[in-house]
Amino acid sequence: MRTFLIAGNWKMNKTAEEARAFFAEFNALAPAKTKCEALICPTFTALSAAKEANKGRISLGAQNVYPKDSGAFTGEISPKMLSEFVTYVIVGHSERRTLLKESNAFINEKIHALLSHQLKPILCVGESLEERKAGRAFDVIAEELTEGLAAISKEQMAAITIAYEPIWAIGTGETATPAIAQEVHAFIRNWLVKHFDKSVADGVRILYGGSLKASNAHDLLSQPDIDGGLIGGASLEAKSFVDIIQIADELL
Ligand code: PGA
Repeated sequence: MRTFLIAGNWKMNKTAEEARAFFAEFNALAPAKTKCEALICPTFTALSAAKEANKGRISLGAQNVYPKDSGAFTGEISPKMLSEFVTYVIVGHSERRTLLKESNAFINEKIHALLSHQLKPILCVGESLEERKAGRAFDVIAEELTEGLAAISKEQMAAITIAYEPIWAIGTGETATPAIAQEVHAFIRNWLVKHFDKSVADGVRILYGGSLKASNAHDLLSQPDIDGGLIGGASLEAKSFVDIIQIADELL
């Protein structure tokens, strides 16, 4: 079976000092060995402190990247720079799609750039409440997958994780029911079978994100096509993040 990936997305939260404090608490609370893979994605400015304070206990990721190696791109960060600190990079988060107008084509460029530096992309997809109410959720997700994964080979898919994050459930306290999440995860799995093949689809981890917390982690992670979580709010406190890791471990 696929191992769970329990990923914390800190978004624009925590200074370097606050990241150090989180890892001091995390290292004291978390079991020395976990069956699931745990990951924290801090802000760029906290990456160095997180790497030092984490002491190699869990994987580190970044929340964004610019798809060029170097050059005149003021304010941006390249895959090569990130590879000094992280193994994973989130791309296509709905907050960036909405607030910064990131397109599927741009997200696809980022995925190719990350893969060329041996970094593992986590591609976020998901529908808004309006799109769900209009019965368009699957169309929106299929388009994000088709365009986001354009010109990606079967071999490259081994390094890619997909995160289903219904926009209406992010930071709202409203979680997709396990049944709704499972239905979409199965849709994504089938899409991967159709566009690649069954062995690729079986190997790709599909994470759920959107108000995932200790109280609903068991029911969500018990679903057959949910392979972990992308966790915002509940990853900011070491204790609640460790609780979710322990719930995931008990299911393995
Ligand atoms: P949330 O965020 O857990 O706070 O809803 C999830 C995400 O946006 O990755």
